[in-house]
Amino acid sequence: MTLVTDTDAPRIALVGATGAVGNTLIQLIEERGFRYRDINLVASARSAGRELTVDGRSHRVHALEDFDFSETDIAFFSAGGSVSEQWVPKAVAQGALVIDNTSAFRMDPDTPLVVPQVNSHELDQRPASGIIANPNCSTIPLVRLLRPIEDRWGIRQAVVSTYQAASGRGHSGVTELQKASAITLEDPAAENPTEEFSPTLAFNVIPSIDRMLEDGFTFEELKMLQESRKILGIPHLDVTTTCVRVPVVNCHSEAAWIECHNPVDRQELVDLLAEQSEVTVHDREVVGAFPTPRTAVDQPDHVHVGRVRVSPHNPRGFWLWLVADNLRIGAALNAIQIAEALLLKGTLQAEGTPQAEEAR
Ligand SMILES: NC(=O)c1ccc[n+]([C@@H]2O[C@H](COP(=O)([O-])OP(=O)(O)OC[C@H]3O[C@@H](n4cnc5c(N)ncnc54)[C@H](OP(=O)(O)O)[C@@H]3O)[C@@H](O)[C@H]2O)c1
Repeated sequence: MTLVTDTDAPRIALVGATGAVGNTLIQLIEERGFRYRDINLVASARSAGRELTVDGRSHRVHALEDFDFSETDIAFFSAGGSVSEQWVPKAVAQGALVIDNTSAFRMDPDTPLVVPQVNSHELDQRPASGIIANPNCSTIPLVRLLRPIEDRWGIRQAVVSTYQAASGRGHSGVTELQKASAITLEDPAAENPTEEFSPTLAFNVIPSIDRMLEDGFTFEELKMLQESRKILGIPHLDVTTTCVRVPVVNCHSEAAWIECHNPVDRQELVDLLAEQSEVTVHDREVVGAFPTPRTAVDQPDHVHVGRVRVSPHNPRGFWLWLVADNLRIGAALNAIQIAEALLLKGTLQAEGTPQAEEAR
């Protein structure tokens, strides 16, 4: 049971509680024994009055438009970018610290973009904006590997292809993939639903995620570039990506070619990655030891790495393959780890306030 009466435990609100990320947040709060004094579940008016269980207690879902954040210390927002744009400023004005899972504030200079394993120093004080942004689901596992590689060998360029699961589009993405797959198995010529993925994702791959930009890259690809630079603090980092949706239910994969400034020893690279917190390297000594979205679920809170290959033609360059649960590592787990780090550092409250003094 993680509902406690201690005054140092935060009062939390989950906006988007009925969605794929919101459901995963609830699961992680329970699994990790995240301590809270009060919890409120919030979604659209469509879900108002629904009951969801957290830690064995039933909670009624509130409609966002009627919810008052003045009794909330941490508000997790996972309800889409336009919802965050509209409602996060209100939550902040009412006193909540917002951890936002959407892209709405990620590039705002007053809002830290945080992966606790990489740049937790950003949490040494409460941000002036009252918002901490959670990065994109493919960016998070990538930067967790790029950080030690940059520190050891210096990165000249990273070229990444992603293989992103249907759950990246939330509950409705998974439902549509399942429906379309069943329809196509029954009759390959039948028309498929294409509300979430067009053309259909069933028995297909789609090299376009989020909107297409004028230069031919997609917004998903731009996010990976801009966010990696901001999190790693390397303004000119050369990361270029092709983001692809694949007919997988959950867990994103990435194939990365990374060229460094200095020659890379393969074993040293494997050892370096393996010693990172919550990273598992599946090395070639074990046949079939590469990770896949279906095998990564055995250790869902780890970034799984395999196929580590230094180029025989270029000792400065190597390939690796990674798999990470997009709902957990790419969203809810990172958000919870941000909240855990804030509580540990005592920086949930603004410096100098009575609440901050109490937390010390
Ligand atoms: N899925 C991922 O892997 C992932 C990873 C990183 C970030 N994100 C981001 O997290 C957010 C949620 O994604 P998801 O995958 O959980 O989507 P989802 O399964 O579609 O869930 C959306 C949630 O937002 C709520 N919502 C929608 N419109 C709303 C409104 N006008 N007011 C209040 N609540 C509203 C929904 O409530 P109802 O049930 O009432 O409609 C639901 O709880 C998105 O911004 C997404 O980009 C997702």
